[in-house]
Amino acid sequence: MCGIVGYIGGRSAQDVLISGLAKLEYRGYDSAGVAIMGAEQIEVRKKAGKLANLAGELEITPLPGTLGIGHTRWATHGLPNDTNAHPHATEDGRLVIIHNGIIENYLPLKEALMERGHVFKSQTDSEVLAHLIEEKYELTAGNLAEAVRLALGDVRGAYGIVVTHVDHREIVAARTVSPLVMGVGEGEMFLASDVPALLPYTRQMVFLHDGDMVVLHDDGFTVMDLQGNALHRDIDHIDWDAEAAEKGGYDTYMLKEIFEQPSALTNTLIGRLNDSTGEVNLDIDLDPKSFKRISIIACGTAYYAGLVGEYMIEQLARIPVEVDVASEYRYRSPLVSEDTLAIVVSQSGETIDTLEALREAKKYGAKTLGVINAKGSSMTRELDDTLYIHAGPEIGVASTKAYTSMASAFLLLALWLGRARGTLSEQQGAELLHAARELPRLVEEALSPERVARIKEVAEKYAHSRDYLFLGRGVNAPTALEGALKLKEISYIHAEGYAAGEMKHGPIALIDANLPVVVVATESFLLEKTISNVQEVRARSGKVIALLSDGDTENAQHADDVLYVPRSHEMVSPIVNVVALQLLSYFTATALGKDVDKPRNLAKSVTVE
Ligand code: F6R
Repeated sequence: MCGIVGYIGGRSAQDVLISGLAKLEYRGYDSAGVAIMGAEQIEVRKKAGKLANLAGELEITPLPGTLGIGHTRWATHGLPNDTNAHPHATEDGRLVIIHNGIIENYLPLKEALMERGHVFKSQTDSEVLAHLIEEKYELTAGNLAEAVRLALGDVRGAYGIVVTHVDHREIVAARTVSPLVMGVGEGEMFLASDVPALLPYTRQMVFLHDGDMVVLHDDGFTVMDLQGNALHRDIDHIDWDAEAAEKGGYDTYMLKEIFEQPSALTNTLIGRLNDSTGEVNLDIDLDPKSFKRISIIACGTAYYAGLVGEYMIEQLARIPVEVDVASEYRYRSPLVSEDTLAIVVSQSGETIDTLEALREAKKYGAKTLGVINAKGSSMTRELDDTLYIHAGPEIGVASTKAYTSMASAFLLLALWLGRARGTLSEQQGAELLHAARELPRLVEEALSPERVARIKEVAEKYAHSRDYLFLGRGVNAPTALEGALKLKEISYIHAEGYAAGEMKHGPIALIDANLPVVVVATESFLLEKTISNVQEVRARSGKVIALLSDGDTENAQHADDVLYVPRSHEMVSPIVNVVALQLLSYFTATALGKDVDKPRNLAKSVTVE
């Protein structure tokens, strides 16, 4: 989630870096730093806290130079202090790197480098890159690009990496998962993790693809793959204004965030799953055997993610879980004791009901854990431990990527607890680890142009309905609730979400030929039962929109409209399935001309009771 800026040309590098980093401020900050090429050495300045701390210092003692790289950090490994801030330099200070992402195998790499005499200054995973490239630099007799390429062959993980060396007037960069965009000027080149940083300088941009490596000179660039083969990349003219740039070219933040889900999920999962040992590393101090029950507390969409979490934890770790709406929990004298683990779930970390519920749980001695997106938010300061979801800033009022990342974080937590408590068989553990790994790819597939077009068509067909019903079972019962919430929030159509089996106990009375009923009927041990519910709807002339797993032509006959979704392991299916429902609401709302990013009466972070 970090911000990156690089510059080579005729201007003051310091000015370009600081102005560019300021444009990325909406991503949040722990620390900021720059490295600027001087006459004989590279000068590094870095400071914990907001960019203003660093900018203030540079104003008093500026760094001259026309080549530089800059970074704002959102900490993953290591505390947000001056030492852990980027850039990171080699011991002799001749080679400097910045890195956005996570190096999953940094520990064995670090140990091996230390054995070979490298001295580390920080606790970050990123610093291994500096030392690794330094070794390869010697091996390639001073070929910086080749050294970076070879070093990246040894690392596993996600990265946007930018490197410079005192002996070369060039910047070398590469990306996998983490985004990088290059700006092309007249006798100058720019680099950034996001378009807004570059807009004041150039509109000629090159979006680097996954696995691209690039070398920037004053008068141009070359792109290659990680095997060293030269690649062609088009230069695009970007005519977005500043706001459109923040939306990454999408019409709305909500749509951008829906499409960001594959990378948000990668960020939630990365570095936390070890395929070879089957272990889950959550970097939390909690003793997984120190409690007997779990209380999950949250509001709105985060509450529904908690319901998915309940299912996962009870199934995989066999611990009793209850899930509460925070505004109820805080006033119902909950039965909490020292053997309770209270888990609060929140995108913003500021929702007052959830914060007060957390305080209530603490009062009675519960251990507390947060599943949180916003770093440094109020809840994180009061929690015993936090499992960050790393979804990146969510600006659209209707939550999308935070929901799927929260549900994925619960999967990690359930696996971690299940392993520690011995409730997961080897085979189950391996299957689920694989299913988790597959999530970003499956969600990417769920967002294919054909599927999106089909969802839009169905949304428009039913956009003028007065009411909607959403049904789902088991781990997908919360998917139905979330689908209904999304629809009412942004389209203002009345919608109800129900556990499918509960329909006959009341909502069935609502069914007539004007009621679209969305049924999550993907592969499940409960599928037959769900299909029986579909028949009940059909028998009363209700219109069935069925979410079916790819290839399920048999059950298609029971539906008026089918939305096919990628097949996935049932336990992770809520994360894949909900994407279609997010898009269904989105296209319904846009068909009705609603402002999806700022739905009426709603606020992104609810800090009043
Ligand atoms: C729904 C939505 C809200 C929030 C709720 C909790 O799309 O955004 O229901 O989920 O207000 O917010 P956080 O997660 O910030 O505590």
